[in-house]
Amino acid sequence: MNKQVNYIIYAMLLSLSLLIGYFFIDKIASTKLLNQNQSSISDTKIKKPIPPMSESVVLGKTYFNNKCAPCHQIHKDDPSILGFEQRGPWSDRQNLYSWVRNPEAFMKNDKYTQELKARYGSTMLAFPDLSDMEIDAIVDYINYVGESR
Ligand code: HEC
Repeated sequence: MNKQVNYIIYAMLLSLSLLIGYFFIDKIASTKLLNQNQSSISDTKIKKPIPPMSESVVLGKTYFNNKCAPCHQIHKDDPSILGFEQRGPWSDRQNLYSWVRNPEAFMKNDKYTQELKARYGSTMLAFPDLSDMEIDAIVDYINYVGESR
């Protein structure tokens, strides 16, 4: 066989393997990039950004800590104050105002809170001085904690 023909075949094989190698490296590099992107998306799912506190939430936190926290520990699950608006008569804010200002009077006409009392064995303290706005702020704070955990 002619030596020159051999060289040509070698050269062709060499460039072919370079071409295949290039494609493989390209593929590996792009899948790595893809994985990186995917992991950064799932990271943001795990670490929820903490939403900023509105003025009302800041105010509500102070009221909650001073007046409600002695009996309602916000981070404890049993009994939890988190998500209370989904229970009993609390979807109506007017009921909450009456309850907070005078639990004993409210309870007289409300089976739900009578049952709560039977469960917890004590009556909630009355806060006749809290305004609607102050109670709203407390609810905003409770919901803020619920949403940001
Ligand atoms: C002295 C303890 C005490 C304090 C202080 C207190 N609570 Fe309560 N709270 C209770 C008890 C006990 C119950 C269960 C009902 C009962 O037995 O009176 C209750 C029940 C509740 C419920 C109903 C919960 C549910 O699961 O449906 C809400 C809402 C609530 N309290 C809000 C407040 C808010 C708002 C404050 C602060 C302004 C506050 N409480 C302060 C003792 C307290």
